[in-house]
Amino acid sequence: MFSKSRGKIAAVLALCLPVLVAGMASPSTADSGRYLLEVTANTSEERTKVAQIGVDVIGATKLTTVSVVADRSQYRALKATGLPVRYVGDFEEQLKSLGKVDFTDPKPGEVGTQDFPSGYTGYHNFAEMTAELEQTVRDHPTLASLRSIGKSYQNRDIWALKISDNVGTDESEPEVLFTCNQHAREHLTVEQCLQIIKRYTDNYSNSAIKNMVDSREIWFVPMVNPDGVEYDIATGSFRGWRKNRQGNGTDLNRNWGYKWGCCGGSSGSSTSDTYRGTAAFSAPETARVRDFVNSRVVGGVQQIKTHIDFHSFSELVLWPYGYTRADTDTGLNADEARAFQTLGRQMAASNGYTPEQASDLYITDGSVDDWMWGQHKIWSYTFEMYPSGGGLDSFYPRDTAIATQTARNNGAVDLFVGYSDCVKRIIGQTC
Ligand code: ARG
Ligand code: ZN
Repeated sequence: MFSKSRGKIAAVLALCLPVLVAGMASPSTADSGRYLLEVTANTSEERTKVAQIGVDVIGATKLTTVSVVADRSQYRALKATGLPVRYVGDFEEQLKSLGKVDFTDPKPGEVGTQDFPSGYTGYHNFAEMTAELEQTVRDHPTLASLRSIGKSYQNRDIWALKISDNVGTDESEPEVLFTCNQHAREHLTVEQCLQIIKRYTDNYSNSAIKNMVDSREIWFVPMVNPDGVEYDIATGSFRGWRKNRQGNGTDLNRNWGYKWGCCGGSSGSSTSDTYRGTAAFSAPETARVRDFVNSRVVGGVQQIKTHIDFHSFSELVLWPYGYTRADTDTGLNADEARAFQTLGRQMAASNGYTPEQASDLYITDGSVDDWMWGQHKIWSYTFEMYPSGGGLDSFYPRDTAIATQTARNNGAVDLFVGYSDCVKRIIGQTC
């Protein structure tokens, strides 16, 4: 796609032909054609306008500066909105600056390194995650069990791990679901799922943990998008990949079937980073998680009561709906909205994230939280993990950040599991 010498050529050209507009750096003529930009957008309306241009919205700092990846024509369209746009750098130069050297695709027949580069070896690739889950079950056979809930587009297993006392028995206990890594490049989220698994099994002798594990059935899908993960790291460098690997890729978090594609919160163009797919659940990965969640309706009652979907980055706690800016709508009344907000704010007080309704960020449709709540009345939150802002490098914190940034959510996760028998208890109501 591009060569090592290209950066040098770009640098030389930039010196020869300085393209400076009002003292601000602009793309040179010999760049990769994809730019990292910062757009000042102070409201959900403005941020939704930015997203609707089709750019890849990678994060939002203090909810006013939106970092995006845009191609040349999107860059022009952004400027045409009149919103302040700052050119930060070239997409591929940004990824290279992480210290990785070679972005060339493996030649046909070559596999590439298929692993995280140095500085990141603490992260789990698909094989390492699978081995870790299997080891957990060997170490804790009465507490943990592992099943495949089906296959990804490229035929990798989508694993689900269950934690509970008497794990082999379907007891009448509130069920909790954690999903991680719908978006490929958000590798820190797999580590979050694995950290909760480890803490709830290795620390079972702790009485607070034992109480939670004994009174709940806790499910984890630690890698919803294994194909995307493997693609992101296949060359030994990072590619900044978000979607699954079906065709040009579908954004899994725009492919869920509640008001799919309803509201300008996703793209119909297959090359967009927020492509919603050809139909709701056209991606095998969302369809398999859907089937699993549907299968937990036992005797007409959904057993899963609560759900967190982990993403990175921006340090946010988000709740439904994403498709509308209204606080209440069909199937979400004022008491329920208040319970969502109250638990969301308490979790955010614990981890230091910013709490808000999902659409306060920007409108999305076909996101998992809207489906979980709209379809199943599962209290569903989206966490955007560390860091709070930055460019593409923010998807790739060094592995030294894993321990602190996952432990940072201990309090929020425990609070969440604790309320999972009845979230409305948090506003003094019964279930
Ligand atoms: N970064 C996430 C995404 O674009 C945020 C989604 C927020 N909306 C929501 N309904 N959870 O997918
Ligand atoms: Zn994400």
